[in-house]
Amino acid sequence: MPKDPKTFIEANTAIETPPLIPEVRLRLATEIVPIWQATEDDLAHLGIPPPYWAFAWAGGQAVARYILDNPDVVAGKRVLDFASGCGLVAIAAAKSGAASVTASDIDPFAMAAIDLNAKLNAVTITATSEDLIGQDGPWDVVLAGDICYEQPLSDRVAQWLRRLARKGRTVRLGDPGRTYLPQGGLDWVVRYAVKTTRELEDTDVRNAVVWKFTAD
Ligand SMILES: C[S@@+](CC[C@H](N)C(=O)[O-])C[C@H]1O[C@@H](n2cnc3c(N)ncnc32)[C@H](O)[C@@H]1O
Repeated sequence: MPKDPKTFIEANTAIETPPLIPEVRLRLATEIVPIWQATEDDLAHLGIPPPYWAFAWAGGQAVARYILDNPDVVAGKRVLDFASGCGLVAIAAAKSGAASVTASDIDPFAMAAIDLNAKLNAVTITATSEDLIGQDGPWDVVLAGDICYEQPLSDRVAQWLRRLARKGRTVRLGDPGRTYLPQGGLDWVVRYAVKTTRELEDTDVRNAVVWKFTAD
């Protein structure tokens, strides 16, 4: 049973690079099934969510690749990585010259993972566990990777991100074809084939698209 999130993360992960992002090192689960099942079984009764922070999800890898290949999107800007998980997108933004980077996630284990992973990559990220959905913060750019896996979350986030886009913020969403991707109001930006594993996904490769919220 994990007592301290950082100790638990260090004991259950290894330092790896996600397939699409060789320039970023992260503490990730190597043996997927044991950590997923162990934590689900052990932690469910404590109300602690599954360890999303232990994986670099295909949607997040797509946004991170896009940002690293197009640093002008974030350079000199105040960036929010919403639902950051392991912190990959936030780290990509920091490495691409963002003026400041905030990573948000409601999971306290993600807070610890983001901190550990930011240190591994020698970047500065402010992590917050506040639920920012609906808020209008001081962000020029809002990025989100792989958040369309549950309908209520996807609906709330889509309305919020669309509102921010209408206010002139740059908003990008990375999604590998999840069930609850919003229908309409999105423009295709770029697509990447992301190598994944059948233990986590139902395929060896996922085509992950970076979407732009239309302002109209
Ligand atoms: C599938 S993971 C994606 C993580 C990361 N963006 C990536 O692509 O690797 C989804 C994340 O959303 C987070 N999450 C769910 N609801 C949230 C909310 N209201 N605010 C912030 N994060 C949230 C979960 O804790 C989880 O870390």
